[in-house]
Amino acid sequence: MKIGIIGAGRVGVASAFAIATSKVAEEILLIDLNKELAEGEAEDIAQGMDITKTLARVGDYPELADKGLIIVTAGLRRKPEESRLDLIKKNACLMEEIVGKIVAYNKHCLIFVVTNPVDVLTYSSLKLSGFPANKVFGLGTYLDTVRLRSFLIREGLNPEAMVIGEHGDSMVFLGDIPVQIAERTRKAGAEMIKKKGGAGWAVGLAVADVVKAIAKNEKKIFPLTSLINNWNGLSCVCISVPVEVGSSGIISYPEISLTEEEKERFLRSYDVIKETTLCL
Ligand code: 2OP
Repeated sequence: MKIGIIGAGRVGVASAFAIATSKVAEEILLIDLNKELAEGEAEDIAQGMDITKTLARVGDYPELADKGLIIVTAGLRRKPEESRLDLIKKNACLMEEIVGKIVAYNKHCLIFVVTNPVDVLTYSSLKLSGFPANKVFGLGTYLDTVRLRSFLIREGLNPEAMVIGEHGDSMVFLGDIPVQIAERTRKAGAEMIKKKGGAGWAVGLAVADVVKAIAKNEKKIFPLTSLINNWNGLSCVCISVPVEVGSSGIISYPEISLTEEEKERFLRSYDVIKETTLCL
């Protein structure tokens, strides 16, 4: 599979590196306003291609024409005191420009949004692209799910857990999760910003796991953000729920049963995103 990644910052490069080490892509094209940076990062990854069998190179939008999947990571990072939704205005304008340039050269690809606020920006990317809803999705709470599972494993607990809803403060933990582990998961993004300016490696690993499911048509289930349509009676918002992922993007929405409390929390999360989406 040939992949384009927009943004050669911490998240874009961690994603490129994790995808390359998973050996599922023949080519990764890295695009960034800072061409020198993108060139250096691509060349650094390309120098390992005897091991990864993946050619990473720097390029520009016209070269996206033959990519099957385009990952958008470009954006301004939030400051420790900012919520993800604070980022919306700044990154929504940037997304408009990026998606406009993507569809100018490629109308058949999958678009995978990572930039925050990812739920709202996935919605705007879908609308701006005019693509079918199953072809535009965002990392959403899969990152939170991966983090939660890591905390559960380290506590010797069963890691079979999932986070749905907003990739943000109103995220919803399914099942019986110890409060302190849920809080640590909720605050993990802000903790990375405080300690090292922002997450990278765990995001890249989560992105690469989804890319592998697309490249190998694994039909694997992830909580990704996408446009829901009568999901537990809710529609018209991009929010993370379990979806089956394969080479055509989102294949199906597997049924899950929610407790009354989980339904209430999901509805609150839905309302947070809906309110913000209306600001777009
Ligand atoms: C995080 O939670 C970048 O949103 C991402 O760290």
